[in-house]
This record gives sequence, C-alpha cells and structure tokens, in this order.
Amino acid sequence: MYKQKYISLLFLTIALIGTSLAQDCTFGGVNYSGFTLNATTNLQEYSSTQGQTQYVWNVCATSPTCVAKAIAGSASCQLSSGQWRNTGLLNTGVFSALEGVVGAQITYGGGPICNGNKQARTTKVEMTCAEGQPTKIVGADESSTACIYEVKLSGNAACGGGDNSGSGGKNSSSDKKKPSIGGGWVFIIILVCGSVLYVAAGSIVNAKVRHLHGKEIFPNYHFWADTFPGLLKDGVLFIKSKVTGTSASSAGYQQV
Ligand SMILES: *[C@@H]1O[C@H](CO)[C@@H](O)[C@H](O)[C@H]1NC(C)=O
Ligand SMILES: *[C@@H]1O[C@H](CO)[C@@H](O)[C@H](O)[C@H]1NC(C)=O
Ligand SMILES: *[C@@H]1O[C@H](CO)[C@@H](O)[C@H](O)[C@H]1NC(C)=O
Repeated sequence: MYKQKYISLLFLTIALIGTSLAQDCTFGGVNYSGFTLNATTNLQEYSSTQGQTQYVWNVCATSPTCVAKAIAGSASCQLSSGQWRNTGLLNTGVFSALEGVVGAQITYGGGPICNGNKQARTTKVEMTCAEGQPTKIVGADESSTACIYEVKLSGNAACGGGDNSGSGGKNSSSDKKKPSIGGGWVFIIILVCGSVLYVAAGSIVNAKVRHLHGKEIFPNYHFWADTFPGLLKDGVLFIKSKVTGTSASSAGYQQV
C-alpha cells in the first residue's frame, strides 16, 4: 500500500520536473536544442509572415531581432502595422507534451497585455518529429484565442536520437502503463486464496475421508482452537517483551 503511494509520488515528481522551466532545453528525455538557431548556424532565428504580420522566434534562445526591436530577453516577437512587439520572454519558457504526436511545445509568456481580452501575449512553439528530416517551419499564426500565437516547426530534432534511453520521444508504452499492484497486495491476495483453499480442501478431506463431524470438520480443528491461540499469545508477549525491554523468559519463554 505504501509502495503504491511512493510510486504515485514518484510519477507526480517526474511530471512536475517535466513541466517546469526547461533551461537545459530537454523534455521527456529529448534534447530540443537541435532547433536552436545561433551564431554557428546560417540563420539566428526563425521568421515567417502570415498576412500582415511577421512572426520571429527562436527555441531555447533569444531572437536577435526581437531583442533589438522589442525587449531584452525576448524569444518571440512580431511586426504588425509597422510596430514590433514582444510576444514571449525566454525565461518564461515552459515545456509541455503535444497531444497525439511525437514532439513537444514550449510556451513563452510575459508579452504586453492585449487590449481585447487583457491576456499577456503568449507564443506556443510546437515542435513535431519528422524522422530524418531537417528543421522546417510548418506555420505561424494567431490561435483561435486572441493574442496567443502558434508557431510550428518539424524536424528530426524532435524525434529524440538513439542516445536517449527510450523515455519520451518515440511512442513509449511504458509511460502509459499503470503502476502494477505492489508486493504487499500480492502477498495478501496469495494469503487469502491460500487460506480459502486450505479450509475448503481440509474440510472435504475431514468429512469424506476421515468421516469427522461437526466442528471437527474444520481442518486441524484442535490446533487452531487449542494450540494456536496460545502460540499467538506467546508471540505477542515475546514481541512486547522485546519492545519494552523486559526479559522474554519472564513471559514463559527461554532464550535460544
Ligand atoms: C543538448 O544538446 C546541446 C547541443 O547538442 C548540448 O550542448 C547540451 O548540453 C545538451 N543538453 C543536455 C541536457 O544534454
Ligand atoms: C547552435 O545551433 C546548433 C544547431 O541547432 C546546435 O547544435 C548547437 O548546440 C548550438 N550552439 C549553442 C552554443 O547553443
Ligand atoms: C505511435 O502512436 C500512434 C498513436 O498512438 C500510432 O498511430 C503510431 O503508429 C505509433 N507509432 C509507432 C512508431 O509505433
């Protein structure tokens, strides 16, 4: 029983760590820094234009344009009606799982409050696995909720390389498995089943083979009725004597 509580606690802890700020850019055992654009790559940020709006962002790093045009620490911004706006700060980034696909999303918050719905502008960066494929921008747009923007990337970097030991990334059935019943419960189930079997089989043998009657049909009736209570009492007294520190022999036991 306690074991199950510990298992639940363990899963809860893992879940909390999993959704906490992911400064090292890993989630579910997958290192998403493969999506990070920086000085060593051709581009230093992602950019996509949708309608009248240009979206600019980066993964696990600030975007140089956003820092220069909007605010320090910005990982996501937009150019709309000739005005640059921060739509997400790097240090607010939180990883979460994506429903039904392999990959993850980082949510960057802390943008200026939207006039319409009083929400802080937020950007969700979706990264889905495309086995063996280079990183590609799939789309960038405002979500159905005003001032929440969704930018989408795909690529092999979201698949999790062979170096991670199977947790996360690929379809890992172990993540979905419920924790099995603990050893304590297995013991109790075996004990109950064994007792039922013992009484049933013993009673049949006593009645049909040994032709006993009444209470005597109960298997080893005299042991359970006469001897066992005494043994139980001695056992309890023995444990009690050990706990209280009084000598066991005074309770009718000899030290062995
Ligand atoms: C993720 O990958 C990057 C570059 O490949 C590396 O610098 C970084 O240490 C990795 N992070 C972890 C937690 O393994
Ligand atoms: C720069 O980007 C590349 C490709 O995304 C990545 O492998 C590398 O770890 C990055 N370097 C730093 C210092 O983040
Ligand atoms: C992963 O799971 C999805 C749905 O649960 C399934 O459609 C897909 O075929 C699975 N992929 C692998 C490689 O098992």
